[in-house]
Amino acid sequence: MARALSSRNDEKPVASPLRSSHAPLLSGRVQVPGDKSISHRALMFGLLAAGETCISGLLEGEDVMRTAEAIRRLGGEAARIGAGEWRVRGVGIGGLRSPEDILYMGNSGTSARLLAGLVGGHRVVATFAGDASLNRRPMARIVEPLSRMGVQFAGRDGHRLPMTITGADPVMPIEYQLPVASAQTKSAILLAGLNSRGDTIVIEPEPTRDHTEIMLRHMGAEIQVESLAGSGRRIRLKGQPELRPGSFQVPGDPSSAAFLLVAALITPGSRVTVTDVGMNSLRAGIFDCLLEMGADLTFSNRRDQGGEPVADITAIAGPLRAISPPPERAPSMIDEYPVLAIAAACAEGRSTFRGLAELRVKESDRLAAISAGLACCGVGVQELADGLIIEGRGGQVHPIPGGGTVATRMDHRIAMSFLVAGLAAERPVIVDDGAMIDTSFPGFRILMNGLGALIEPAEV
Ligand code: S3P
Repeated sequence: MARALSSRNDEKPVASPLRSSHAPLLSGRVQVPGDKSISHRALMFGLLAAGETCISGLLEGEDVMRTAEAIRRLGGEAARIGAGEWRVRGVGIGGLRSPEDILYMGNSGTSARLLAGLVGGHRVVATFAGDASLNRRPMARIVEPLSRMGVQFAGRDGHRLPMTITGADPVMPIEYQLPVASAQTKSAILLAGLNSRGDTIVIEPEPTRDHTEIMLRHMGAEIQVESLAGSGRRIRLKGQPELRPGSFQVPGDPSSAAFLLVAALITPGSRVTVTDVGMNSLRAGIFDCLLEMGADLTFSNRRDQGGEPVADITAIAGPLRAISPPPERAPSMIDEYPVLAIAAACAEGRSTFRGLAELRVKESDRLAAISAGLACCGVGVQELADGLIIEGRGGQVHPIPGGGTVATRMDHRIAMSFLVAGLAAERPVIVDDGAMIDTSFPGFRILMNGLGALIEPAEV
């Protein structure tokens, strides 16, 4: 299933259809690959520190490898020492150079948006390109604030990739209120602000994942975070800090763990433990939802790892109730709605998800992809402008009828979610392309099959 990583926008991905059939039960104790958000940031912040940064547990998925290649092209060194063990030799804030070739971002929105901030804060000119999915995604959300900081953009209509970015000189400090809660946009502004002489201030309407703030503080940056009336936050970064190179130990990705945990919850007789999972409260909304659905989840061995909370999580199969998650919880589980939809399809009762317009601009239009996928698996679903209504089929041995072929639309999380659905389906579920899974969860199929799942290559 692994594809060769090309550094240019000339690859022709070969589809790898996969079939998932109902499994007797899942059992075991496993670790998932490192957190994607933290892995990208560890490489980028390593580039901005003068000296050597050691990273362990780095996610070696395609998206993060795009970031590694980009930081090499911007003047840093990134070397793999062993599995998940990396060393980055940084150039310090202000030390980036213009790349000789395009920065090819593949499927990775996090690489594109955060690196746009990094490049925008330097006297650098770089051209960014992505695959068909990334080239469709909106970049206006970073162009707007970064332009105010003095960055120039020449992109395709409506600010899409491919796009050439000319960094600001000097970088103007700004105060910016995010119109949409987005950790990528917040981080892009803060990354540009690192090379500004003044204070950069970002106000977010709802708290979003704060790995950027935690990691920059760990490296010596001055960052203050203030809670505002309602649930917003104001983040103030003092420009031009001296970032200390150090070490990062990346925890397991809670977004990846969610697939295994839901798989165990919906496959009768299962018991699965995922160890070393990141438990940052701004990422943990999926666990709150599953607990509210009546899931048997236990959290043990809670500890701190480089400022990030970590735990082992055990899931035991059992009946689930429908859920209507509060819309304000969305930023803390924005990537988990596809797999939550599978849990909801197996639960007793009708679930309603609202406040999710952002899902339309992820790796695919996820509301449309989930809705079409559930419908083709025989689950009652209604697509709303900003959400979904899912008719749960709980109380049966294999609650999902299955038997369909799901269009994954170049979206890794749609592919994994429907392979999880196949475990609880009467007839197998086929996904038309599992190749994208490698962007975030290399080894997914092998890990799942090691627990007892039946996921095999298929013909479509
Ligand atoms: C991410 C933030 C989220 C998330 C993405 C990773 C990050 O995107 O969906 O997978 O690492 O900052 P948005 O900031 O666009 O919501």
